[in-house]
Amino acid sequence: MRKPKIAVLGATGVVGRHILEILEENNVVYEDIKFLASKKSAGKVLQFKGKNYKVEEAVPDSFEGVNIVLASAGGSTSLVLAPEAVKRGAVYIDNSSAFRMEKDVPLVIAGVNDEDIRTHKGIIANPNCSTSQLMLVLKPLHDYAEIKRMVVSTYQSVSGAGLAAINELRDNTIAVNNKQAFKNTVFKKPIAYNCIPQIDVFCENGYTKEEMKVTNETRKILHLKPDTPISCTAVRVPVFVGHSEAVSVEFERNITPEKAREILNNAWGVKVIDNPADYEFPTAVMAAGTNPVYVGRIRKDIAFDNAICFWCVADNLRIGAALNTVRIAEKVVEMQVF
Ligand SMILES: NC(=O)c1ccc[n+]([C@@H]2O[C@H](COP(=O)([O-])OP(=O)(O)OC[C@H]3O[C@@H](n4cnc5c(N)ncnc54)[C@H](OP(=O)(O)O)[C@@H]3O)[C@@H](O)[C@H]2O)c1
Repeated sequence: MRKPKIAVLGATGVVGRHILEILEENNVVYEDIKFLASKKSAGKVLQFKGKNYKVEEAVPDSFEGVNIVLASAGGSTSLVLAPEAVKRGAVYIDNSSAFRMEKDVPLVIAGVNDEDIRTHKGIIANPNCSTSQLMLVLKPLHDYAEIKRMVVSTYQSVSGAGLAAINELRDNTIAVNNKQAFKNTVFKKPIAYNCIPQIDVFCENGYTKEEMKVTNETRKILHLKPDTPISCTAVRVPVFVGHSEAVSVEFERNITPEKAREILNNAWGVKVIDNPADYEFPTAVMAAGTNPVYVGRIRKDIAFDNAICFWCVADNLRIGAALNTVRIAEKVVEMQVF
């Protein structure tokens, strides 16, 4: 089996650092590895597998001889660098939203639609964090009863908006505690002790781009009908790591909460914690730093026929970004499609 030469682009960012951590944990095989970021970070030293590596500035020639790029450097950087990497023969696995909805770009959650990887033409996209955690839960339920429509409300942690947002929650909270004035810059409203019903910019239909990502990406990954009704409200909450979601799904065929629990108990990558009588249900704090997508509060949705409600929690930096990126890379190697 050929081993790839890997480049981690955006290695100094929140997602990039988690990619390093997970590459180590999963003991991913490679022939060579390098770490890229902006000019600002060139020369910084990163530790990986007990060795020191100098971060290099990402320029088109950085991808010469590279087989797989694990990219988390933002959409505008990917728009410039992905074509350069692909031109040089690399498979570019991208965390940004730049290419997700393009027809020729597979949008993949490992363990859900692996076969789509084989159709890649150089770029493979990693879904938005809120979509990602839902897919491992929805896929087995969809296989059993077929999704008819879905309503999702997300409670998203600040780490989903990068390092600057993490710092702003901390500093804003300290300022409020000390009764000091604070000017928010990452968020448009105070994030300390508050919930903000806006993530990303507003679209013409009144939804935000983040909300429409959940709608469109879910349809693409699960190969649903293009007009399957999916409505999302995305809310930023003062949590450092871990996104939570309240989900209501109506199915074409009958499914009971007991059956849904049984299916999810056997689902790969999912852990059911569902014993409300003893206050056992998942929360963001317990999910942070771990790999599973947790599901609890599974019950019949009394507002629709054949519908189930549940609460779904995961580490947005892992399954929502870095973990799935590394898992896609592992599949690319396993399938030898690089
Ligand atoms: N955080 C999440 O939960 C999450 C989930 C899914 C997807 N994503 C996506 O992943 C990407 C990164 O997010 P993040 O949270 O890790 O952001 P971040 O903490 O701000 O890190 C950004 C990274 O990109 C690098 N970078 C910026 N401009 C660059 C350029 N021109 N050339 C090369 N490298 C450049 C930065 O390098 P320097 O350190 O040198 O500036 C840094 O390594 C974004 O597209 C984001 O939407 C994030």
